[in-house]
Amino acid sequence: MQLNNARILLTGATGGLGQALALALAEQGAALLLAGRDPARLADCVVGLGGNVQSLCADLTHPEAIETTAAAAREFGVNVLINNAGINAFGLYESQNWSAIQQVIMTNLLAPMQLTHALLPWLKAQEKAAIVNIGSTFGSLPFPGFTAYSSAKAGLRGFSQALRRELADSAVEVVHVAPRTIATALNSDAVNALNRDLGNHADTPQAVARQIVQALHTGRGERHFGFPERLFAWLNGCAPGLIDQGLKAKLAIVKRHAAQR
Ligand SMILES: NC(=O)c1ccc[n+]([C@@H]2O[C@H](COP(=O)([O-])OP(=O)(O)OC[C@H]3O[C@@H](n4cnc5c(N)ncnc54)[C@H](OP(=O)(O)O)[C@@H]3O)[C@@H](O)[C@H]2O)c1
Repeated sequence: MQLNNARILLTGATGGLGQALALALAEQGAALLLAGRDPARLADCVVGLGGNVQSLCADLTHPEAIETTAAAAREFGVNVLINNAGINAFGLYESQNWSAIQQVIMTNLLAPMQLTHALLPWLKAQEKAAIVNIGSTFGSLPFPGFTAYSSAKAGLRGFSQALRRELADSAVEVVHVAPRTIATALNSDAVNALNRDLGNHADTPQAVARQIVQALHTGRGERHFGFPERLFAWLNGCAPGLIDQGLKAKLAIVKRHAAQR
């Protein structure tokens, strides 16, 4: 996909990865419609980028906001939708309240599915279009302490793959990218401490944004970032029992940090 004449709706544009991605896409000459929940942070993002950038405020867990966002995207003339907005909730599943679990599923899975559904007829009518879903390593390597988040991201991966296969005879590409840990505010202090104890590497949002731009350029449907995370995600698909054993050995560490959140 050529990005210099792309018109892109980017959700979660006020976040760590969203801001880096907005900058990387603007540098490629793309026109941007930035979506987020906080008007002040959105305004700062627009000013920082200059050029052909507009914004809209929407909480995507509200069905009416999906409609407003889709209408604004059609008016803007989008041909690329990037479902980037997301939240995390670290903790043992049984200790989390149901509304927090629901919020994770709604934000990371149902909102991207619903926004895609609302925009699909429009995207199919474009000469060239793309849907980019920002997943996570945890979507292929579900992790203790991140049960709701892993479930949502695994769902997003399945959604992306099924939709890509359904749209194989259309001009709409479906790209699913799965970053490992990124140094952003998504991760609480407890998650950062856990990652340090587990020796997990955190990428910068700028490095991940560059890889996403490259994925858009090449149109390769599946991209998993980072080694050895990519290897473990693959191994989980072939021999999940091995990953069960490996993660059982780390469970005490996960539980210790989950108790401190
Ligand atoms: N950070 C990581 O370690 C990591 C690793 C792999 C994948 N990812 C994925 O990367 C994506 C971006 O995450 P990030 O690290 O940039 O997180 P972040 O800095 O916390 O940003 C999250 C963004 O999502 C928006 N958002 C959250 N809930 C929303 C809602 N209900 N409606 C609309 N927007 C909402 C936030 O808007 P507000 O400004 O209004 O809060 C913010 O713009 C997510 O999909 C995440 O799952 C992150």
